[in-house]
Amino acid sequence: MKLSITPAKRLLGKAEIPGDKSISHRCIILGAIANGETHLSRFLMSNDCISTLKAFRQMGVNISVPGPDKVVIKGAGLNGLKPPSSPIDAGNSGTTARLLAGLLAGQSFDSVITGDASLQKRPMDRIVAPLKKMGADISAGTCARYLPLIIKGSTLEGIDYHMPVASAQVKSALILATLYAKSPSCIHQPAVCRNHTELLLQAFGGRIETQGNTITAYPARHLYGQNIKIPGDISSAAFLMTAGLLVPNSMLVLKEVGLNPTRTGILDVFHQMGADISVENLSNSGGEITGDIIVKTSYLKGTVISGGLIPRLIDEIPIIALAATQAEGTTVIRDAQELKVKETNRINTVVSLLSRLGADIEGTDDGMIIHGPTPLTGDTLDSFGDHRLAMTAAVAGLIARGGTTINGWEWADISFPGFYETLKKLQC
Ligand code: S3P
Repeated sequence: MKLSITPAKRLLGKAEIPGDKSISHRCIILGAIANGETHLSRFLMSNDCISTLKAFRQMGVNISVPGPDKVVIKGAGLNGLKPPSSPIDAGNSGTTARLLAGLLAGQSFDSVITGDASLQKRPMDRIVAPLKKMGADISAGTCARYLPLIIKGSTLEGIDYHMPVASAQVKSALILATLYAKSPSCIHQPAVCRNHTELLLQAFGGRIETQGNTITAYPARHLYGQNIKIPGDISSAAFLMTAGLLVPNSMLVLKEVGLNPTRTGILDVFHQMGADISVENLSNSGGEITGDIIVKTSYLKGTVISGGLIPRLIDEIPIIALAATQAEGTTVIRDAQELKVKETNRINTVVSLLSRLGADIEGTDDGMIIHGPTPLTGDTLDSFGDHRLAMTAAVAGLIARGGTTINGWEWADISFPGFYETLKKLQC
C-alpha cells in the first residue's frame, strides 16, 4: 500500500496514543496462565499483539474481544495450556517468538514456533542458549540460530545467567521459563532494559525481585487474573512527539503515555537536544507510570546518545535520527549494535531512508553520525517492511519540501494502526 504525504503547516491538538505493545503482549501471556479472568483495556490491537493473542487461542485459551481495544482472557491456569496442533506463527513479532519460547520450554507438551520472512532472519540463539542451560530441549533452524524453534516440553532448573546483551525479550523468556522451573533463576543484565514483565508478574501475584541490574525470578504455583488499563505506548508517541517538535508553530498533547523510566530515554535525549517537552497529569497503576506529554515546536541541537541510554530508547532511534537531521550540529549514536537485529538492520535502513531525502547521515559499526540541520526534499521511499521506518518516513514527509510517497505503508499496522488518521486530525 502507498501513502502520499505533503508538508504540514502546523500540528495542533490532543491525541490518544494506542496501548503499549510490550505490555499488551505480556498481559495476554500472563492472563492466559493465570487463574480467573483478566480484563484488559487499551489493548494494542495491532498485528504483532494479535500474533500473541492467536497463539494462546491455539493453545485452547478462551480470549474474547468485546470492544476495539478490550480483551477478556479466561485464564487456563499455569498448567492449563493445550498442545497446539500446528506451528505457532509469531508473524513479525520478536516478542511473541522469544517470550513464548521461554514459556513453552517447561510445558508438558511439544510445540513449534515460526514467523514471517523478517522474523526468520532474527537471532534466536540468544534465548536458545540460556534456555538449554535450564534443561530445555529446544532446537533452532539454520545454523542453530533462526526460526523455526522446535521445543519439546522438559523439566527445567533455575539458572544463574549473565545476559550478553541488555534484552528485555531474553530476560522475559527466562523469567517465564522459571515460572515452571524447580528452582529460582538469577538474571544479570548488562544495563537496565524494560521491566514490564517484572512489574506485571508482581501484579498477577508472582514473586520476583530486582536489585540493581540483577533479577531473581521464582517458580510459581498460581497467578491471578487482573483488570489492567494498558498505558499508551511511548514508542508510538515518539513519532507524534517528533512531528510536534519539527513542524512549525505546533503544540501537541499526547494523552496517557507510559512513562516507565526504562522506556523514557527519548525524553532525556530530546531534553538534552533543547526540546520544549513537558509532562503532566502523572499517575501510577501497578507500578507503570503514565502521564500526558506536551510538545511544542523547538530549536534542537545535536547530542551524543550512547551507553546505558541505548536500551531505554532502542526502538526510537529511527525517529530520533530524523530529529537529528533538523538539529544544529552533530548527533552521534553509539553502542547501538542491536539496531542491526531489529525488524530490519536499522543502521542500514535509517541511513538509506534519510539519505534519500537529502540528510547528511552516515552509518557506523554501532550506530550513526548525523550532521544538521539539512533541508529535506520529498521522494519515493520504501518502508523496508519495517513499521518504525514507515512512520519515520511519514513524519519526514511532513517537513520535506514537495511530496513524499511511502511504499509498503501497511507495515505501520504492526504497532500503530490508524497512525496516518491520527496525524491528519492534528493538521491545521
Ligand atoms: C521488546 C524488547 C526490545 C524492543 C522490542 C520489544 C519487548 O527488544 O526492541 O521492540 O517487548 O520485550 P530486545 O529485548 O530484543 O532488546
